Amino acid sequence: VRNGTAVTGVGGPSDERLAPGEQSMTLTDRQGHPITDNQNIRTVGDRGPSTLENYHFLEKISHFDREKIPERVVHARGAGAHGYFEAYGKVGNEPVAKYTRAKLFQEAGKRTPVFVRFSTVVHGGHSPETLRDPRGFAVKFYTEEGNWDLVGNNLKIFFIRDPLKFPDMVHAFRPDPVTHIQNIERMFDFLSNSPESTHMATFLFSPWGIPASYREMQGSGVNTYKWVNQEGTGVLIKYHWEPINNKIRNLTQKEAEEIQAKNYSHATQDLYEAIERGDHPEWELSVQILSDDEHPELDFDPLDPTKLWDHEQFPFLPVGKMVLNKNPEDYFAEVEQAAFGTGVLVDGLDFSDDKLLQGRTFSYSDTQRHRVGTNYLQLPVNAPKKHAATNQRDGQMTYFVDRAPGQNPHVNYEPSSLGGLQEAVPQGADHEPSYSDKLVRQKISRPNDFGQAGDTYRKFEDWEKDELIANLVGALLVSSPVVRDKMIHNLTQADADYGRRVAEGLKKADAESKHIGTVPAQEGAEIAEKSGHQTD
Ligand code: HEM
Repeated sequence: VRNGTAVTGVGGPSDERLAPGEQSMTLTDRQGHPITDNQNIRTVGDRGPSTLENYHFLEKISHFDREKIPERVVHARGAGAHGYFEAYGKVGNEPVAKYTRAKLFQEAGKRTPVFVRFSTVVHGGHSPETLRDPRGFAVKFYTEEGNWDLVGNNLKIFFIRDPLKFPDMVHAFRPDPVTHIQNIERMFDFLSNSPESTHMATFLFSPWGIPASYREMQGSGVNTYKWVNQEGTGVLIKYHWEPINNKIRNLTQKEAEEIQAKNYSHATQDLYEAIERGDHPEWELSVQILSDDEHPELDFDPLDPTKLWDHEQFPFLPVGKMVLNKNPEDYFAEVEQAAFGTGVLVDGLDFSDDKLLQGRTFSYSDTQRHRVGTNYLQLPVNAPKKHAATNQRDGQMTYFVDRAPGQNPHVNYEPSSLGGLQEAVPQGADHEPSYSDKLVRQKISRPNDFGQAGDTYRKFEDWEKDELIANLVGALLVSSPVVRDKMIHNLTQADADYGRRVAEGLKKADAESKHIGTVPAQEGAEIAEKSGHQTD
């Protein structure tokens, strides 16, 4: 809250410290004391020493000393914007209520406010936005039934399917723990030993790994979710965002390097400036729907996030559109403190048994309690707009008591007959899938690690294939033979031509660089740089 107004306009308690007409530009400290001298600390005589009761100075400097909070452990670099989602009231040509009872989708033209954060994944908060990396596409819908977060990426699939592997994967992608330099060999060491990542690596090292800007990219929920209707029947769902008033555009490595030489923030700048000049980016939200079963007729498991659902077989069915029309008023308060999570669903939306999704669902709110604080859900950007009434109390930075207006303030427990909060009436039948199986540690039975990687490679245009091969050769050039061989083996499984072109490219690059055989990482990085391939 600044100068008596909420900084975000997205809810939270209203600030009534200043009545209308009492607005003042007088500088104060956080205790409301007017500051008469903001240039000089108190000292004994004009040459010091200073005294300890300099309250204004101590408050100012000690707040400054605490100005930073931990960065997001991944997706640290981001940009955000406010806007709205407008429902079509249908899914394709059918009434949406056939599949979900979620209120935000039901009526054509119904608007739900949203806050969106786009991001890159691996590097820190000020890293260049031109790096080869998936892009985050996280949307918070402030619905009448509470918040819904759709935490997605630009690419429609992911590297791994088991959440147990996520910390290792991120460690391999991040800078080396000794040198603090990103070493692409460590990344390919992990990827080549995780064959399920071959499909994602094929997208990432193609031009699809560097979207031109946030406005010119798609989004996807990646994981498989469920929709649940009034009768409690569930279907499997994938979510997709397609840009409406911008075309999808990706960059070649060379184009990205040219931008990076001049601007580390081109994507944030592009989004901010477009919204400021009234060129509001729009995306259409579509879903793919599958019946809620194992689908033995498919050669992959519909719960596997390393797979695309073929859009000819399972069409994209539009459900609404999103418009981003307002920039944040304060980056830290709104964008940095925004907290999205896959567990944040509303009635009519549900989880599937996608293991990666279930692992993610623990991770987000866990990290946010550490990164932002116990009461992160009381911050205006994270709080639901309409109604939050809990019996949760206290904890660091409690900002207000989230009790209902009519609630007996003495009753912070439930059940009670003395005016406490009451359980809600169910909106429809519960979705109750039933299970009967052994508890195991086991890979899914249809991993099909390479089939779709090959399909994706074959569908690329020639220039995209050329870029992909050049980028992989540039990256593998700095990897030891064991890593190269495993990677080439995996690529060949996907498509013989794909594997052959990378192997031949490496042979040629080795011969040209005079370093035949193993290239130590540092030396290799120099060669890669000379040959125009950066190691990020
Ligand atoms: C951010 C964990 C997979 C998209 C994060 C954060 C964590 C995390 C801890 C930081 C959150 C914060 O500090 O607020 C995981 C785990 C995964 C996983 C454990 C797998 C087991 C994915 C996948 C996607 C994804 C598959 C894409 C669908 C995002 C996005 C953000 C994010 C977009 C940034 C959200 C924002 O803008 O604040 N993830 N993640 N993650 N993750 Fe994941």
